[in-house]
Amino acid sequence: MNFFEFKDSQLYAEDVKVTDLAKEFGTPLYVYSKATIERHLNAFENALASKKHLTCFAVKSCSNLAVLNLLAKLGAGFDIVSEGELRRVIAAGGDPKKVVFSGVGKTEAEIEYALSVGINCLNIESEEEIDAVIKVAKKLNVVAPVALRVNPGVDPKTHPYISTGLKNNKFGVSEEIALELYQRLAKEPCLKVSGIDCHIGSQMTDAAPIIEASEKIVNLYQKLLALGIKVDHIDMGGGLGVTYDKEVPPQPLDYYAPILEKLSGYDVALYIEPGRAMIANSSVLLAKVLYQKNNGDKHFVITDTGMNDMIRPALYGAYMTIENAVDHKDVAPVVCDVVGPICESDDFLGKERSLKVKNGDILAVRGAGAYGSSMSSTYNTRRLPCEVMVDGKNATVIKKRQSFEDIWKDECILN
Ligand code: LLP
Repeated sequence: MNFFEFKDSQLYAEDVKVTDLAKEFGTPLYVYSKATIERHLNAFENALASKKHLTCFAVKSCSNLAVLNLLAKLGAGFDIVSEGELRRVIAAGGDPKKVVFSGVGKTEAEIEYALSVGINCLNIESEEEIDAVIKVAKKLNVVAPVALRVNPGVDPKTHPYISTGLKNNKFGVSEEIALELYQRLAKEPCLKVSGIDCHIGSQMTDAAPIIEASEKIVNLYQKLLALGIKVDHIDMGGGLGVTYDKEVPPQPLDYYAPILEKLSGYDVALYIEPGRAMIANSSVLLAKVLYQKNNGDKHFVITDTGMNDMIRPALYGAYMTIENAVDHKDVAPVVCDVVGPICESDDFLGKERSLKVKNGDILAVRGAGAYGSSMSSTYNTRRLPCEVMVDGKNATVIKKRQSFEDIWKDECILN
């Protein structure tokens, strides 16, 4: 559920017409709804309420400081994959003690920074990373809290680019060697074996894969207990899908219930790392229609918003709902490709869409909050979009539109 709704043929973000926002702040414009973010976090918190838990928002999905600050104030933790993301969380007022650090390529400098600020857990993804963590922990003379990211070899049945739990993905260590590696970790005085971690993929619209993965992880947990190795948490990662088109993903309550059932009776906390399900439908991206034209059999609606602002359609062939922010009664629908101004043929927001559209209209790309702004770029030397957060009737700029000079400020001309 989100707070972007049509009233009298006009799309509203909470109590504000999005066309008014486009007029005031320009386009491309990311519009976030504060109430939606709060509602989504509550849904996760309620789903896990019966167990000790930590909801770690996946910062990569949307890293705006205002979003992180809002979630931090509501008590969320964070899942990060770089020093930059950790620094963002801290800058936004987040508590490092609620941060877990995943990623296959953490550098020693990143590990050092994470340990020096007192991170909750390092999710180690390879045997060689264990050596790096030991080296840094000894240097700092600290005990490093660690988990192994275990790859359970489960097919998340999602787009191949966002599957991570298959045997041939680069992520985590295989189930087969996990037990042996845990025994090694347990012998190291400078390590605290804190958790078991896994993340099998993203945009999962069915609970079966995560249930299968959780069976394997609980099995490993039991084997570790038998060896006298007791972790304090199991981290099932992110991955819960959202409705971009007609998908009907499970609600957090139903998604996590079977996992909680498997964990009942065990003194272990459940960590989760949701990104998309928290933030995708908490935002729309507004684009302005500049021109229309017919080339061959195709009708093109050309907007000022391109793959640099929202790369998901171009990169994954992802479907994102596009709506006219004003539902015209007097315009006939036309089947069109909605494209951007970038000089690439895959610069599109949507293909073969039926839209009632006039030049100057504002189109809303729904579900834009996850992997939207955080994957945007300045390709074609276009400025990063402005972002606003709506709270009831009020809208606050949470990211100013870049200046052109900002784009090249770190570049230098040879003497
Ligand atoms: N934890 C880890 C270790 C991850 O790698 C990810 C996402 C998450 C949590 C959050 O997953 P979520 O709840 O958002 O599904 N750019 C792609 C998605 C890439 C996901 C990468 N990992 C897209 O736009 O669909």
